[in-house]
Amino acid sequence: MELLSLIEARYSCRNFADRPVERALVRKICAAAAQAPSACNSQPWKMHALFGEKKAALARAVAGLGLNGHAADAAAVIAVEETPAKYLSRFDGAVRPNAWAEIDIGILAAHIVLLAEESGLQSCILGYAADPAAVQDILQTTNPVPLFIALGYAEEGTPMPKKNRKSLAEVFAEEE
Ligand SMILES: Cc1cc2nc3c(=O)[nH]c(=O)nc-3n(C[C@H](O)[C@H](O)[C@H](O)COP(=O)(O)O)c2cc1C
Repeated sequence: MELLSLIEARYSCRNFADRPVERALVRKICAAAAQAPSACNSQPWKMHALFGEKKAALARAVAGLGLNGHAADAAAVIAVEETPAKYLSRFDGAVRPNAWAEIDIGILAAHIVLLAEESGLQSCILGYAADPAAVQDILQTTNPVPLFIALGYAEEGTPMPKKNRKSLAEVFAEEE
């Protein structure tokens, strides 16, 4: 599928079917997403592809405030750990540590969800975790874990929600 069609077809799935996802497919998606650009090519991420028990534990840790219950139904969750970024030495002291890491991880996530769409998988980016300490425990890290991508197949017959977006005039200006 061409990129524009993938962008149009992707939506945040919150209605996953009880259907497994091939681990090799998730690995392939992560390997391709790792080509994403990042500040100073720092690649400040580690993608943890979680299945089975670990995925179930992670799903419990991210659910709360009536959000993210659907992570329990996803076949897999990719948890993105933020790792220490090494920037050009001329930035030393001029920018805070990991200044662009969350932006980089957002770009990585965009690659992941479009690659998932191309592979016929549905996805949902999750930024909220009710229990971040439990997340770190599950991944055995002290680094922040700012983003998760739930992956799976949508329940048959799930209608694609209508995209609700600001008008182009609000988000785009042509200037000279
Ligand atoms: C950084 C980020 C964090 C998000 N966090 C959550 C979340 O915690 N739970 C959730 O259900 N959706 C979450 N979403 C999905 C958005 O709600 C969704 O992308 C937006 O409403 C647009 O809908 P669409 O993805 O279906 O086009 C998040 C998306 C992004 C980019």
